[in-house]
Amino acid sequence: MATLKTSVIGIDFENPFILASAPPTARIDSIDKAFTLGWGGAVLKTITPDDLEMIEASQRYASWKNGNRVCGFENIELLSHLTIQQWLDGIEFLRKKHPNKVQIASIMAPVVKEEWQKLVKTLNSAPIDAFELNFSCPHGMPEKGIGMAIGTNAEISSMITGWVKQVSKKPVFVKLSPNVTNIAKIAKAVENSGADGISAINTVQAMMGVNLDTFVPMPNVNGKSTFGGYSGASVRPIGLRCVAQIRQNSDLPILGIGGICNWHDAAEYITLGADAVQVCTEVMINGYAVIKAMKQGLLDYLERKGFESLEDLKNRAIANISSHEKLDKSKQVYPHIDEELCIKCSRCVTVCDESEHSALSVNNNRITVNRDNCVGCSLCSHACPKAAITMK
Ligand SMILES: Cc1cc2nc3c(=O)[nH]c(=O)nc-3n(C[C@H](O)[C@H](O)[C@H](O)COP(=O)(O)O)c2cc1C
Repeated sequence: MATLKTSVIGIDFENPFILASAPPTARIDSIDKAFTLGWGGAVLKTITPDDLEMIEASQRYASWKNGNRVCGFENIELLSHLTIQQWLDGIEFLRKKHPNKVQIASIMAPVVKEEWQKLVKTLNSAPIDAFELNFSCPHGMPEKGIGMAIGTNAEISSMITGWVKQVSKKPVFVKLSPNVTNIAKIAKAVENSGADGISAINTVQAMMGVNLDTFVPMPNVNGKSTFGGYSGASVRPIGLRCVAQIRQNSDLPILGIGGICNWHDAAEYITLGADAVQVCTEVMINGYAVIKAMKQGLLDYLERKGFESLEDLKNRAIANISSHEKLDKSKQVYPHIDEELCIKCSRCVTVCDESEHSALSVNNNRITVNRDNCVGCSLCSHACPKAAITMK
C-alpha cells in the first residue's frame, strides 16, 4: 500500500498538498474548513508588522481564459490584513482543532534587523511548524523596498535570512521569486545563511493585457493599472524550471509552487526535486474541494508505478536534464499521421512549409512526409487541431 505521508526536515505532512500563502489562507475559519476537507497544511497569508501600511486596489485580479478554463491569473493584491494578535489566536485555535496539519507562517517586514527579529520572536511562541520568508511578492511591496526587491538581490536575501536564523526557533523556508536571471544563485545565497528550505515560486511579474478602447491595461483600477503577479496553469513551466534548477544546485528541501492544478502537476514537481507542493490559483478558481481528486490521483499513480512513498518519486527526472550540448542528437523522429483522426485540414502542411522545412504535402487526399526534408522538429504535431500526429 502506497502512502502520501511524508516528512520534510522533521515536519510530518499527512499529504504533500498544502495551501500557498494567498487569499485561501487569509482567514482562520476558512483555513479550518480547508483542513477539514483534507489539505495537509497551509502557509498563512503573509503576516507583517501591524503598522505596515497596506491599502488594497479594486479591482485586483485579471485573467486569460481558454473557453471557461482560467489558464493564467494576475493579481495586484498585497498581504494579510489580520493583526499579529489575530494570527496568534488563530494559529492556536487551528493547532488545537487540527493537531496534525502543517502551519507555516509567511512573514515580511521592512529591511530593518529589529523589525524582522521582532516579528519572528513574537511568532516563535505560536504553535507553527516553520517560517516562510516572503522575499518575492512582485507588486506593491517592492516600491517599499521589500517583497521581490529583497528576493532579486542575493546579498539582501542572505542578510535577512541570517537575521531570522539568529532568533528563529522554527525551521525557515525562503520563498523565492522567479523574476531573476539565476534563481539557483539566490537559493544558494540563502542556504549559506542558514535557510532550512526553499519555497518556489512566487508569482511571475506580468501585464495581463490592454483594453484597446480605453487603453487602460488590466486590471483597471480607476483608469490606471500596474504590473502584477502572474500565476495559475500557464506559469507551471516556469515553476518546474526553477525548482529543477534549485535542485540541481542544492539538497535543501523544496516546496514546489506554481500552476499546480491536479495530481499530475504535483507529481511532476516532485520528480524535479520538490518535497511537497503548495497550491493557490487552482483553489481560488475551483475551491478547496479540489484536494480530494489531487490526493486520490497521486495515490493511485504511486500504486500504479509500484512506489511506496513520495521518496520513490522524488528527483526521478533530475538525472534526465542535460545541457543542450550533451543531448543525444544522433537519432531523429518523424511524424506519423493517424488516418482516422486526420481531417485533412492541411494545417500541418502549411506550418511546416512556412516554418522552414516543407516536409509535408497532400497526396491522394493523404498527408505524406518527405523524410529528406523532415528534421523531426515536431511542429506539425503541435499545430494539428485533432492530435492526429505523433512523433516516432
Ligand atoms: C491573489 C494572490 C495573492 C497572493 N498573496 C501572496 C502572499 O500574501 N504571500 C505570498 O508569499 N504569496 C502570495 N501569492 C503567491 C502564491 O502563494 C503562489 O506563490 C503563486 O500564486 C503561484 O502559485 P499558483 O500558480 O498555484 O497560484 C499570492 C497569489 C495570488 C494569486
